[in-house]
Amino acid sequence: LLHELHLLETIDSTNAEALRRIAGGAGAGLVCCAELQTAGRGRRGRTWISPYARNMYLSLVWEYHEGAAALEGLSLAVGVAVVRALDRLGLPALQLKWPNDLLFNGAKVGGVLLEMAGDATGRCQVVLGVGINVSMPAAAATTIDQAWTDLASIAGSTPVSRNALLASLLNELLPLAAGFSATGFTPWQAPWMTLDAYADTAVILHSGEQRQAGIARGIDSRGALQLETSLGVTSIYGGEISLRVA
Ligand code: BTN
Repeated sequence: LLHELHLLETIDSTNAEALRRIAGGAGAGLVCCAELQTAGRGRRGRTWISPYARNMYLSLVWEYHEGAAALEGLSLAVGVAVVRALDRLGLPALQLKWPNDLLFNGAKVGGVLLEMAGDATGRCQVVLGVGINVSMPAAAATTIDQAWTDLASIAGSTPVSRNALLASLLNELLPLAAGFSATGFTPWQAPWMTLDAYADTAVILHSGEQRQAGIARGIDSRGALQLETSLGVTSIYGGEISLRVA
C-alpha cells in the first residue's frame, strides 16, 4: 500500500508538501515525513509547534472516487488508528477527545488534520496529517496554550524510537486509508467510543463566538458528537468546533 516515502529535513508543512505533490500528479500511498516544519498547521487555523528532530510530522495521501461525503468520520478513524499504533509499541493507553485529539491524562500528545484536494463530489485526494509530540523540548512549547505532554514523558523508562513509531503508524494508517471507502465510519464508531476521554462529561462547545454547554454522550455512526442539553441530544458535526471541559 505504501507507494512513495519522502523523509524530508525541513519543510513548511508536510500536509502542504503532500498537497503540492498531489497537484503534481501524486496519488494514493504517498507519505511525507519531516524533521522540522517551519509552518506546521493545526486545526482551526492554528500553528502546530514543530521543532527539529524531536517529534513526528507525517502526512499520508489517499485517493477516493466517491466524493467527500463518503469520507465522513475518516478523521476520527485516523485518531483510533493512531492510538492503536501507539498501543502496539507498548505505550500506556491514550484517549481521544472529539473529534481527534490524542490525550494522555487530559494532556494533548498529538492531533490529526485532514486536508482535501480535487473534486468534492467525485475523485478527490485526502491528506491524512498526523502530528505526535515524541520528545518535545519545553523551550519550544512555551506558546502551546493548552495542557500538553509527549511520548517520552508517558513512556517511563522505555525509549520511544521514531523509526518504530513511523512503521507502526503506517501499519495502521495504510489499511485504514485503503479500506475506508468500502466500510465507511460504522466499524470505527464502537472503537472510538471505547477511547473517548470525554464520555458523559460536562463540556462547553466552542463554535466561533458561540458557546453551548451540555454533556458529551459519545458519537453516532457518522462521527457526529452527541451533545445532550436541556433540549435533548443534538448531533454536532466537525469543522471549526472545539470542546472544553465545563
Ligand atoms: C491539531 O490541531 O490537533 C492537528 C495537528 C496536526 C499536525 C500535523 S503535523 C503533520 C501534518 N502537517 C501539518 O502541517 N499538520 C499535520
